[in-house]
Amino acid sequence: RGDCDEKTAELLSGLHGKKIALFGTCGMGNDPAYYQKVIDRVKTWIPEDNEYMDAFLCQGKMPIQVRRRYEEMAKSGQNTEQIQAMIRNFDRAMLHPDRADEAAAADFAVQVWKRIGS
Ligand SMILES: Cc1cc2nc3c(=O)[nH]c(=O)nc-3n(C[C@H](O)[C@H](O)[C@H](O)COP(=O)(O)O)c2cc1C
Repeated sequence: RGDCDEKTAELLSGLHGKKIALFGTCGMGNDPAYYQKVIDRVKTWIPEDNEYMDAFLCQGKMPIQVRRRYEEMAKSGQNTEQIQAMIRNFDRAMLHPDRADEAAAADFAVQVWKRIGS
C-alpha cells in the first residue's frame, strides 16, 4: 500500500548507526516515479542516526488474489480492455524478478559497496 510491510518497517525503525541500502520488489513494474514515491515513504522508517545510502526497486510477483479480483471485474463486462491489460500485466509480473532484475540488483549492490568502501 505504497509503503513497505509492517515487519520491514519494524526492522528499519530498530536500526542505529548503520549504513542502509534498501532493495525490494513492487507489484508495479518499471515506473521510476512510482518507485521513488515508495522509496520516500519507506525511508521515513529509518532513524536519523543511520546513513541512508540508496534504494533499488523492481517488479515482483503479485498475490494470486489480485488476479482473481481482476477476473471478477472482467465478468461485469465493463472496461473490458483495461481489465484485460491489468490481467496481462499481472501475468508478466509472474516472470519477475527475472535475470535482468537480478543483474540490476547486483549492480546496485556493487555501486553501494564501492561508496561504502571509499
Ligand atoms: C497488502 C499488499 C499491499 C501491496 N501494495 C502494493 C503497492 O502499494 N504497490 C505495489 O507496487 N505493489 C503492492 N503490492 C504488491 C507487492 O509489493 C508485490 O507483490 C511484491 O513483489 C511482493 O514481494 P514479496 O513476495 O517478497 O512479499 C502489495 C501487496 C500486498 C500483499
